Amino acid sequence: MSASSGSGRAAAPRKPWAALRAKMTQPRSRRMEQPKDREAAAQQISLLQMLRISGAKPKIMLMGLLCSLVVSASNVATPTAFGVVMDAVAGGGSSEAKRSLLVLIGIYILGTFAQVAETALLRLSSETVAANLRVRLYEKLLSRRVDFFERTPSAKLNSILSNDINVLQNVLTNEVTKIIQAVLEVIVVLFLSMRLGGPTVALALLLCLPINALGAIQYQGWVRKSAQELAGKFASAMADSAEKLSNITVVRAFGLFSYAKTRYERMIAECTAVGVQQGIREGLLRGFLKNNANVTAVAMLSFCAFAPTARKLTPGNALTLVFMSINMLQNFSKLISACGEVSKALGSTTSAVQILQLPDAPAGTAIGDAEQAGGGTRASFASRTMERELRDSSETPANVWSKESAGAIRFEDFSFAYPSRLEHPALRDINLSIPAGSSVALCGPSGSGKSTLANILLNLYDKSAVRTSGRVQLDGHELESLGTDVGRLVGIVQQESALFAGTVFENIALGDAEYSSGQVDMSDERQVAALRERVEEAAASAGACEFIARLPQGYDTHVSKSALSGGQKQRVCIARVLLRNPRVIVFDEATSALDNAAQLVVLDTIQRLIDSRKYTIILISHRLRALPHVDQLIVLRHGTVAEVGTAQQLLDTPHSAFARLHALEDASITRQRYT
Ligand SMILES: Nc1ncnc2c1ncn2[C@@H]1O[C@H](COP(=O)(O)OP(=O)(O)OP(=O)(O)O)[C@@H](O)[C@H]1O
Ligand SMILES: [Mg+2]
Repeated sequence: MSASSGSGRAAAPRKPWAALRAKMTQPRSRRMEQPKDREAAAQQISLLQMLRISGAKPKIMLMGLLCSLVVSASNVATPTAFGVVMDAVAGGGSSEAKRSLLVLIGIYILGTFAQVAETALLRLSSETVAANLRVRLYEKLLSRRVDFFERTPSAKLNSILSNDINVLQNVLTNEVTKIIQAVLEVIVVLFLSMRLGGPTVALALLLCLPINALGAIQYQGWVRKSAQELAGKFASAMADSAEKLSNITVVRAFGLFSYAKTRYERMIAECTAVGVQQGIREGLLRGFLKNNANVTAVAMLSFCAFAPTARKLTPGNALTLVFMSINMLQNFSKLISACGEVSKALGSTTSAVQILQLPDAPAGTAIGDAEQAGGGTRASFASRTMERELRDSSETPANVWSKESAGAIRFEDFSFAYPSRLEHPALRDINLSIPAGSSVALCGPSGSGKSTLANILLNLYDKSAVRTSGRVQLDGHELESLGTDVGRLVGIVQQESALFAGTVFENIALGDAEYSSGQVDMSDERQVAALRERVEEAAASAGACEFIARLPQGYDTHVSKSALSGGQKQRVCIARVLLRNPRVIVFDEATSALDNAAQLVVLDTIQRLIDSRKYTIILISHRLRALPHVDQLIVLRHGTVAEVGTAQQLLDTPHSAFARLHALEDASITRQRYT
């Protein structure tokens, strides 16, 4: 094993900035890569594009449209029938009036059936659209890397998946129907008015429309903007409340009630203000449209009474035309307000669209995350996608490498800055070589970059979002080029144990590649028994068997927030990683939540793993005295490698950073003992 720091161990730069400044003056090819501007401007999208993206079924929509045509015909039948009946009464022809009424009843019955069919079909269509959008969004989210989630709070993403899609679904069910009907009715009315009153009457009616249209265009611009603003503010409020509720213990312990309430109140007040502003704008338009409808009706009546062309109309036809003009304007108002609602919905789905328009996940997706989220639900989309990914990746050169993989790690002049702190690299000029099957312990003060260095191996960040320079290799292959294999080859047990809703068994089983990719048939007893054996073996290695046996339902106990202690959760996580059987295992403060007895069990496990030489082990721990026997110690300071050597070598080096850390730990233990 060899390891060194480009900036020197003992000769770590006195001014941390000097190295970076020097780097910045290097030729462009050697500089840390600049991230692209990831926050692309909000992309607007039309309803048709949205329908296309969401995989709406055109046939179902077309059938709904046909039903709308029948409903529209039944709606315009009423004014026509009024005119016919009136003329029949005025002319004394009651049999004609009866016939018209019978026809009218027939049209109404047909209209009722058409209405039922239309509603059902459009609902079916909108449910399909909403379901497809949700699955596609979720799939996109699962394939994002960590930098994306650092920029976007998870509550906001939940809000997009629930609220924003609900708004769109509502629009597709209700407003699209209104638009279709209104357009059809306007056309039918114009056609009938042409037949009854001639082109002048139709033209007079048509002239009323542009005035309304102008109002509508302005209104839609307003509505879309404020809907977008409202959706953003609401999502922030949701993110804030979700954060407080999920950390309710801290909220209670610190008495943060009024702080949390005031903050939430302020955010909701902002939502209300935008909502009220939107309401005023809506009111303005509705008032305008309503008055315009009344004015048009009076104008039409006057036209029929005084205009030379209208004098030829029968009283019944005149009445029909007046009703039709009101009907048409009302429909036009409906059309405009429905378009406004569509606009509003498209405004509030801007964030969803942005996510959908993100490029598909590059090969380096953190597949472990996707597997964990999709595991156990064999039919789930995520799971199927993952299966496909696993199948596809079997053809890639990366997979060939994975079969021969041994777990040798090499960092070469490697520097790294997080997306939110691009000017302050967390790692600088790292040069390390960790042979396959060896073990190292990363030590150093808090914030020195230990977790960052370990996490680099998981390929969590999108290269375009962070700044990096140099290279990291696994068995001689660039980390970036290894794609999804990285998730299968590097396992990590972290400080915070992440468990998913389900039983202890399911949580451990997620580490099993076959189970998490849906290849285990859970109705086949033999397969389940084999899986159970693997799970129990992993649990035994993680020192989790005993406490699981004492749980009310053993392996079938549901993991909820309070069902397991911190230490127990962590042992379940360790078992999950062991079951994955990776080439490299990182233990990042993995034993920090365990009591002494449990810690000894896990440390024994780690020691066995180290001694087996089957894995490359990277151990991060602040407790230097409790470290298992590792081949080398790497001491980090301010993101650089300060020292490398065996524990004895470093302790024997005068004024070594490791000796200082050791002394500090001794002092801390002594202090705890006597205070
Ligand atoms: N997601 C992040 N975004 C921005 N900066 C980060 C992020 N995570 C860590 N950092 C910063 O990177 C530096 C190294 O952090 P890191 O978590 O690697 O330290 P560590 O040595 O593991 O500390 P500890 O012993 O406390 O766990 C710190 O300055 C930290 O503030
Ligand atoms: Mg850490």
